[in-house]
Amino acid sequence: KGAAADDYDESSFISKMQAKNRNIVVFYGSQTGTAEDFATRLSKEALRYGLRAMSCDPEECDMKELAHLADIPNSLAIFCLATYGEGDPTDNLQEFFTMLKDCDRNELDLTGVNYCVFGLGNKTYEHYNAIGQLVDKKLEELGAKRIYELGLGDDDANIEEDFNNWKEGMWPAACQQLGVSAEAQDIKYRQYQLVNHEPGSVPPEKLYKGEISRLGSLQRQRPPFDAKNPYMAAVTENRELHTGGDRSCLHLELDIGDSRIRYESGDHVAVYPVNRSELVDKLGELLQCDLDQPFSLNNVDDDSTKKHPFPCPTTYRIAFLHYLDITANPKTNLLNELSDYTDNEEHKQMLKKMGSNTEEGKALYHDWIISARRHIVAVLEDLDSVKPPPDHLCELLPRLQARYYSIASSPKLHPKSVHVCAAVVRYTTSTNRLVLGVATGEFADKPAQLPVYVRRSQFRLPYKHQTPVIMVGPGTGFAPFRGFLQEREWAKDQGKPVGKTILYTGCRNRDIDYIYSQELEAWKDKGVITNLQVAFSRDQGEKVYVQHLMRRDENSREIWEVLELGGHFYVCGDAKHMARDVMAALEEIVEKHGSKSRQEAQDYIKKLSNKGRYSADVWS
Ligand code: FAD
Ligand code: 2AM
Repeated sequence: KGAAADDYDESSFISKMQAKNRNIVVFYGSQTGTAEDFATRLSKEALRYGLRAMSCDPEECDMKELAHLADIPNSLAIFCLATYGEGDPTDNLQEFFTMLKDCDRNELDLTGVNYCVFGLGNKTYEHYNAIGQLVDKKLEELGAKRIYELGLGDDDANIEEDFNNWKEGMWPAACQQLGVSAEAQDIKYRQYQLVNHEPGSVPPEKLYKGEISRLGSLQRQRPPFDAKNPYMAAVTENRELHTGGDRSCLHLELDIGDSRIRYESGDHVAVYPVNRSELVDKLGELLQCDLDQPFSLNNVDDDSTKKHPFPCPTTYRIAFLHYLDITANPKTNLLNELSDYTDNEEHKQMLKKMGSNTEEGKALYHDWIISARRHIVAVLEDLDSVKPPPDHLCELLPRLQARYYSIASSPKLHPKSVHVCAAVVRYTTSTNRLVLGVATGEFADKPAQLPVYVRRSQFRLPYKHQTPVIMVGPGTGFAPFRGFLQEREWAKDQGKPVGKTILYTGCRNRDIDYIYSQELEAWKDKGVITNLQVAFSRDQGEKVYVQHLMRRDENSREIWEVLELGGHFYVCGDAKHMARDVMAALEEIVEKHGSKSRQEAQDYIKKLSNKGRYSADVWS
């Protein structure tokens, strides 16, 4: 209403909604692309109910305008919000979240604004879906009307199913609120339009070859380096840490010599991986497509801030190698769309069933896709009549994401290199397919260079070297502590007084996977590590884990004393089991030595955490 279609203020989402005649806005707080993907799917699906939606990155909007949504009749704001790390908002939600958290109704009155929230979280983490819950509650406090219950997606189970279940209930509620019929029409909608470039019409230097943003940025490197402009680090060392067995754990050293990249012990290095070329060739064969065909996918909505799903023009080969995740479990909407591209009735029905939200469909999806770990290539191989156009597949597949690694070195000793300790992912599926981790499989192939950037973390040694520390990190969870120990050794060598430094680490067998054992023993001999506790889980009849060693009399007394003396406690590694079990052991120790109830012990640890004296760096 009011503004003409191409006459609006770019920075104002309200003005854009009015000019473009949209009544739904879908905001996403996304770190790895899933929430953004859900937001895009919701905006497309709105069309099935005759509603017009647009998805928006809150970082690019003036979110104070939310109050004006009430001025657009029958409007709705949907939020797809991931919780990241230790209960944090994603980077792109940070600003909005900070504003929202601290404001009251005098500052932002959302009376008359309709909203609903779908949260994306992971139950293995302590602060499960904290951001979705907080935003959902706060919007109501500010006067907005929740038109449908908060949805909670659990990435540890099946977030795709959680999302489908939630939106199945959300759409009828939204239709009722906005006064339209809840009868969905079967509209399929393409977000991007294919432009094939004649061979030779785009000079090779104008084609994207894996750059994240600026064309040619991987060849002509210019600082500052960050997520959009990664640095091509030479891999100067790549060696096996296991001394036997059939598993592999690699130590990598990445040269950041002339990059001006700085890091601290405890930070993460992000690596952009490349899919395996054999798998991409196989995909090209199955799609019967010329992988070297140059093409662009252009957003049909000229006004979208996202012009292409990934940098274009490029070739299918580059898109499948660098930009698209071809080894994740395909989402149900992708399977549904694939059903259009086969004449084989059996294959068609199977895809439709898995793409539906019925009990039978969900069970089939779970067995055939999730349990069997079929990726898109396996799906197209096993349903060989299905031949989607490659460009449609490119629109539907999620973006390939960077992998994070806890930096295993200290800049005090290694200002010009970043060390990584990575467990190689390698397993065989129930359909007898060998799967290699995208990133770690590539590491095992000994790449000469890797595109990287450093992501700051909160995982930090205490400011004073005298402050005692307890570090718990079995397996690759030891990685950041190698940096911490290098830092403490450096301080000691400088003649500085260094506090108690206690390490709990672990592996299966002393003779096979006791990684960095020589360094650890040397640090122990030198007094850099004052108490080294290693749990060898499989060297005896019963399992021995780090938490068992923590509970031993002398150790548990020492842990309690260190905490009471102002020490810091760190845990790193597996989020799913280890971090929880370690937390339980810690609670027990505080309960026992502090003569507290379990609740008081939990409060005690919560306080430590608030003061930055309990930190976790965990992943699943
Ligand atoms: P992918 O191709 O991503 O495959 C991994 C996926 O395969 C898993 O998520 C799982 O779904 C599946 N999978 C794995 N094994 C099996 C199996 N046996 N059966 C069935 N499915 C299976 N990793 C380290 O090694 N060292 C670190 O220091 C480290 N630090 C991290 C820090 C942070 C903050 C985060 C978030 C992660 C960290 N990781 C670390 C994990 C790392 O980022 C990658 O997830 C890991 O290396 C796997 O990546 P990939 O591309 O090789 O495997
Ligand atoms: P396991 O494989 O013998 O069970 C590094 O992966 C080490 O962590 C291994 O010794 C592994 O033992 C151990 N580990 C497995 N589950 C754990 C848990 N819940 N808590 C602590 N350590 C665990």
